[in-house]
Amino acid sequence: MKVMHTAKEMRAWSFEQRGAGKTIGFVPTMGALHEGHISLMRACVERDDVGVLSIFVNPTQFGPNEDLDKYPRTFEADCRIAEDVGMDAVYAPDARTMYPEGYATYVAVERLTDRLCGAARPTHFRGVTTVVAKLFNAVLPDRAYFGQKDAQQAAVIRRMTRDLDFGVEIVELPIVRESDGLAMSSRNKYLSAEERQRASCLSRALFQAQEMLENGEREPKRIIDAVRQGMCEVDIDYVELVDAEEMTPVERVEGTVLLAVAARVGETRLIDNIKFSAKA
Ligand code: PAF
Repeated sequence: MKVMHTAKEMRAWSFEQRGAGKTIGFVPTMGALHEGHISLMRACVERDDVGVLSIFVNPTQFGPNEDLDKYPRTFEADCRIAEDVGMDAVYAPDARTMYPEGYATYVAVERLTDRLCGAARPTHFRGVTTVVAKLFNAVLPDRAYFGQKDAQQAAVIRRMTRDLDFGVEIVELPIVRESDGLAMSSRNKYLSAEERQRASCLSRALFQAQEMLENGEREPKRIIDAVRQGMCEVDIDYVELVDAEEMTPVERVEGTVLLAVAARVGETRLIDNIKFSAKA
């Protein structure tokens, strides 16, 4: 498996693959790989001729008081996992290469980033779209794979990709969960045993709401209230029921909706969601 550290090397490799008629699949990550990332890489290996994993803890998507410094960095172990899954290349630039002295250009998607995680983390999505645009320009993928756990991120990236004509197909894959339902996340490593137990109320509350939706409940307030009650053991940041593409609240459950939650468990901020499509 080839490991590259600069956009120049990465693009040269990708041009070679494209020249040989191969499709390039891309899994962007910040490392600390878990089963969620592995499911994305497996889909990439199955579908594309060659697969590229990026590992870059992107400083521009962290706010001033967030966990940039303590974010888990496990580069060697991540490379072993990627190789075992069958990825062909790792792109791992460093922060100075990505954001050199005098860096001044950002990509921002409007409206979709105002609510949910965007409300509490006002510069987060600008950092995500900027880095993903830069990674797309280096990797030149045909397809890029993202997890539904970050459903707002996936919607924002879909919109950026469409609006800026990147010509990359965005594939969103289901959340991978622990046996008690907790959504896999690199940040789960921060939880103490007691916090880990409380954290499982996020998915329990969402699954209960799923049942309400499946049984025909269409009133957002009743669903949101039930989820809030189910999450009484944690410090809720938001519970929102929104249109799955626009990220705006719905007055009634129609079409495809996203029920998304964020909460603090101790010092750790966790997110989770379900999507539901109501039949017309
Ligand atoms: O989902 C992530 O790990 C990151 O937000 C991403 C997409 C790799 C951008 O840094």
